[in-house]
Amino acid sequence: MYRSHTCGELRQNHCNETVTLSGWVQKSRDKGFMIWVDLRDRYGITQLMFDEERTPKEMMEKAKTLGREFVIQVTGNVIERVSKNPNLPTGDIEILVTELNILNDSLVPPFTIEDETDGGEDLRMKYRYLDIRRNPVRENLIFRHKVTMAVRNYLSNLDFVEVETPYLIKSTPEGARDFVVPSRMNEGQFYALPQSPQTFKQLLMVGGMDKYFQIVKCFRDEDLRADRQPEFTQIDCEMAFVEQEDILNAFEGLTRHLLKEINNVEIGDFPRMTYDDAMKRYGNDKPDIRFGMEFGELNEVAQHKDFNVFNQAELVVGIAIPEGNSYSRKEIDKLIDWVRRPQVGALGMVYARCNDDGTYKSSVDKFYDQDDLAKWAEKTGAKAGDLICVLSGETNKVRAQLSALRMEVAERKGLRKSNEFAPLWVIDFPLLEWDEDTERYHAMHHPFTSPKPGQIELLDSKPGEVKANAYDLVLNGNEIGGGSIRIHDKETQAIMLRHLGFSEEEAVAQFGFLMDAFQFGAPPHGGLAFGLDRLVSILGGQETIRDFIAFPKNNSGRDVMIDAPSPIDKLQLDELSLALNLKS
Ligand code: AMO
Repeated sequence: MYRSHTCGELRQNHCNETVTLSGWVQKSRDKGFMIWVDLRDRYGITQLMFDEERTPKEMMEKAKTLGREFVIQVTGNVIERVSKNPNLPTGDIEILVTELNILNDSLVPPFTIEDETDGGEDLRMKYRYLDIRRNPVRENLIFRHKVTMAVRNYLSNLDFVEVETPYLIKSTPEGARDFVVPSRMNEGQFYALPQSPQTFKQLLMVGGMDKYFQIVKCFRDEDLRADRQPEFTQIDCEMAFVEQEDILNAFEGLTRHLLKEINNVEIGDFPRMTYDDAMKRYGNDKPDIRFGMEFGELNEVAQHKDFNVFNQAELVVGIAIPEGNSYSRKEIDKLIDWVRRPQVGALGMVYARCNDDGTYKSSVDKFYDQDDLAKWAEKTGAKAGDLICVLSGETNKVRAQLSALRMEVAERKGLRKSNEFAPLWVIDFPLLEWDEDTERYHAMHHPFTSPKPGQIELLDSKPGEVKANAYDLVLNGNEIGGGSIRIHDKETQAIMLRHLGFSEEEAVAQFGFLMDAFQFGAPPHGGLAFGLDRLVSILGGQETIRDFIAFPKNNSGRDVMIDAPSPIDKLQLDELSLALNLKS
């Protein structure tokens, strides 16, 4: 038996018991006549002690050889500590060791295995298994486990069935590039790893499964950010015989359950906002509604004066920064520099101070009098003491820029509180989105999303205005889930694919299997997928999903621990008929 107890378990009431513990040496202090060792495992730390008077000489010598991260097993008596440590759950006791067994030695770890480690991100990723020994990382992984267990229990109790779908599939477009896998047995042909199990879950509905879910890996070859990994996990869900309302209710229920179960936060009905409203009021389709600073459109009150920058703009829009009038001129200049960074891209920023005495002082006083500025204040909801910041330009661009400023200011002012939760449904997304690069429309969600009833006729005349039965779930300014009601008949699917630029042959070649299935009694259906990594990290009070993934990739998509991706040898290339292709 390696252990009778864990290192987090023993208390005063265990005194005089003989116990056996196994774990890692966190640190050891050698006073010559006495040696203390902190023994650590997943559950905690227990202090071991060896003392010249009571410990045999041989064992004393052996104890002196223990280095950090050695794996040891000890047997000994639980005794009350002379000087107790109130910061440690096991701090009332220590173990007077009677047997010491070194199970494995260890090199000196490249960084300290402590909550505040001295190791940088790269080093910790290279030795991720050592990082996982640290409390914060281990706790995040256990937290993730709790969330997934709560999800599985909740959905299973509602009759959802978890069904696995294949990873070696044919490309399913979800807006990113596919990772592809060459097939040895089918020369020159490739599988794609799923960007999501979208078509399979729809086929399960045709198969009569009715309520499906799966906690499933998805793969997308896209540029990485703090909230994006090339392989990530979805809680993928689909239901048959449902309308949008049924889906929103079902998954609002799941989210509410998780917030209660995991965070002990009770939230009533989730607010809903149309996509158009979200863009107008927050410049963003995933607004963080934990704080205000809503947009005020100023065209009406700021144009047709003599200020040409505004007169020429498609949109003039501002926000009021609460208590922003306290910013010095230098601080405001810094904000202006911030919006002019290439990542944000504004050309400049106009501002108006709202003085405590009800007067205004703006950076464009030459063009606007006090009455004009009072109108700006009204439109942006600015009060005395606030600072109005105004950007102008092409609508979509200026909205994105002001949204970035709103988030930055909120971050700086500490308004994005990680223990506050503000979910929001964003509904009525456009069906199609214009892509500047390819100069054609793309499905904003995916090609299987159904247009709102009665809108399919608009596809020819005003494709950009067609609204979809599509929705996103937003939590604290992050898109944690998205879904739609699907097309379930062959004709509509064919029309949709035609509008997305697929020829009839291409549509059959890529999606013939789905359209065939629709001819065998496909029920009306719809669903949604949560990004599990994002959901877990936000519930955990953070926004970097890497911290909640056991073995994440870095920003270049590399696993620096196993050194992947890596070249493969010539034999493998030959077997996959790839060597030939690479040369030609
Ligand atoms: P969508 O593409 O919106 O929908 O993805 C669903 C959710 O998955 C998360 N997500 C990601 N998380 C981490 N890294 C990534 N690279 C990444 N990409 C997406 C987001 C997102 O909301 N098949 C549809 C769902 C449906 O229609 O039912 C789909 O995949 O949180």
